[in-house]
Formats: sequence, structure tokens, C-alpha cells
Amino acid sequence: MESGQIQSNRARRSKKLAIEYPFRKSQKLVGKYYYARDAWDVNSWRDVIAIEYEKLIETYPFNEKLRPLSENGDIKLLDIGCGTGIFPSYLDKVLSEPIHLSCDLLDLSASSLQQCRQVLSQSDHFTAHRSYESLIEDIPTTLSAQASHYDVIWAIHSLTTVDVGKMTEVYLHLLDLLAPEGYLFIYQLTAGSSYQKLHSFYRAYHPQGKKVAPFMEYEDTQKILDSIHPDYEVHELFFPHVIRDDRTVILEKYLRKCILDDSVDALKFFETLLGEFHEEERGEYQFPQQVNFVVVQRR
Ligand SMILES: C[S@@+](CC[C@H](N)C(=O)[O-])C[C@H]1O[C@@H](n2cnc3c(N)ncnc32)[C@H](O)[C@@H]1O
Repeated sequence: MESGQIQSNRARRSKKLAIEYPFRKSQKLVGKYYYARDAWDVNSWRDVIAIEYEKLIETYPFNEKLRPLSENGDIKLLDIGCGTGIFPSYLDKVLSEPIHLSCDLLDLSASSLQQCRQVLSQSDHFTAHRSYESLIEDIPTTLSAQASHYDVIWAIHSLTTVDVGKMTEVYLHLLDLLAPEGYLFIYQLTAGSSYQKLHSFYRAYHPQGKKVAPFMEYEDTQKILDSIHPDYEVHELFFPHVIRDDRTVILEKYLRKCILDDSVDALKFFETLLGEFHEEERGEYQFPQQVNFVVVQRR
């Protein structure tokens, strides 16, 4: 698309947006505490991000890898930043009969922990066991006396709003919590993702953004793992989040969720950036993401 076209599309769009979506000032929920609100609208967000979970399930042979671990009974799982249990609900559909996971859940959000327990209670392959309302950074103290306890530990899209400076100790502790042959799975955005692009723009140009820490990304995990030397493999996943032009309200929610700040007039703030994500002919926005799936197996 020519730059002149982008300008005129932008002008058209901003006019349309101002009419369709009056800006509401809402409660400030920023950074990792964005998730702690009781009732943010997850449904519209889920439609857009479904592709992340579908791609992951399609890429990694979970069934094949988990089956041997289930030979001695229930697989002991620690789900770090479990949220509302989106990932287990996808995985549940593809696991085979004998696999059963008994899950300890950890999240800073009490309401997410509760919702996750409810989701798991309706699944075929998962049962919720303990719940830990805790920061990920505090895992070395929250889970201090459980060496070699877990067959699987995963952090699916939950190592974004953590203090990177504390994560080497956390990773070392997670490896200690794993039983021999157990797996640590990390699903994490990379520096090349639109999540990062939007968040960096927010950090550079928004008064509130200037006060927040950068997102932790896969490249931080890579540095940590390379310094502590476990064997690991990486699956690179590429996909776009797609939002149709007429779904203005969802677009604003999406942008706010990407920066984890509910108080920003996101359509206005990102106006100059949105043109580069717009596919004029298809009548939609496409936000390309690269999210890596890291697999560490304890030997
Ligand atoms: C994007 S959601 C992912 C939810 C879930 N893993 C999934 O994919 O279905 C991120 C979750 O991590 C939690 N979280 C983010 N930062 C955290 C931190 N520093 N300590 C504890 N939990 C955190 C949030 O409360 C939220 O529930």
C-alpha cells in the first residue's frame, strides 16, 4: 500500500472510530495486575487469540510426550500463571484416554485461580489439586520444599509481566522441582512479535507507559537458559491475530490487552501505528506474532 493511501485510510478510520466508540474512563489496572480484575471481557479476546493455542497444539505432540509419564498414574503438573485455564481446555480435546493430570495452580489472581479450577472440573483429563495465590517471582519461597515433585511444569503466556532480574533463580528452582525425565514447557512472545511492538510504543510515548518495565520475552529466557545450561529445544510459531475492520470495540480491547493498560484510549493512542497492521483489501487488521515454545527435559 502506498503511504498516501495509509494516510487517507487513517483519516477515514479515525473519524469512524470516534463516532463508534466513545472513550470511557475506567479503573486503572496496569501491568501484571491487569489480570487481577474480576470480570474483564475474555470472550472477544479469546476469539482473536484462539490461533495461539490451536497452533501450539498442532505443533507439539503433547499426547505422545505425556503418555509415557502417565504410566505410573496421574501426571503431577504445576501450571504457572494458570489464568482461567484456556490452555488446558484446548489440550483436553486432544489427549488420549489414559492420560490424567493432577494440577497445582499458581497465579497472582484469586479470581483466575477459582475460574481455572472450575474449567478443570469440567475437563476429562485434568483435576485441580492445590492453588497458590502467588507471584511467579516468589516461587522459590512459595514452593520451597518440593524437589523433584512435578512431572510437568508449564508457563503458557505467563512469563511476560515478571521481574526478569529474579527469573534466573526462578528457572533454577523450577528445574529443581521437576522429577527426572520431567518437562518444563514455556510458551513466550519473542522480540519480533506485535505484542512487543505495541508495548514498546506504549513505553516510549505514553506517560503511564514510561513508568512500566519492558515485557519479558523469549530472548530473556534464552539468555537465562544458556547461562544455566539445561538441554532445551525451541519451536518457533508464527501466526497473525486477525480483527475485522468493523469490530472496532474488539480492536480497542485487543490493543489495551496487548499493553495491559485499561485506562488508555488505545485507538487514539495507536492511531499512527495502526496503518501498518491494516490489510485494506481484506478489510481487516493483522497483528503478526512470533511466539516460541521452549521444551526443557530434566535428565
Ligand atoms: C495471558 S494469561 C495466561 C493464562 C494461561 N496460562 C493460559 O494461557 O491459558 C497470564 C496469566 O499469568 C498471570 N501472571 C502474570 N504475571 C504474573 C506474575 N508475575 N506472577 C503471578 N502470576 C502472573 C496473570 O494473572 C494471568 O492469569
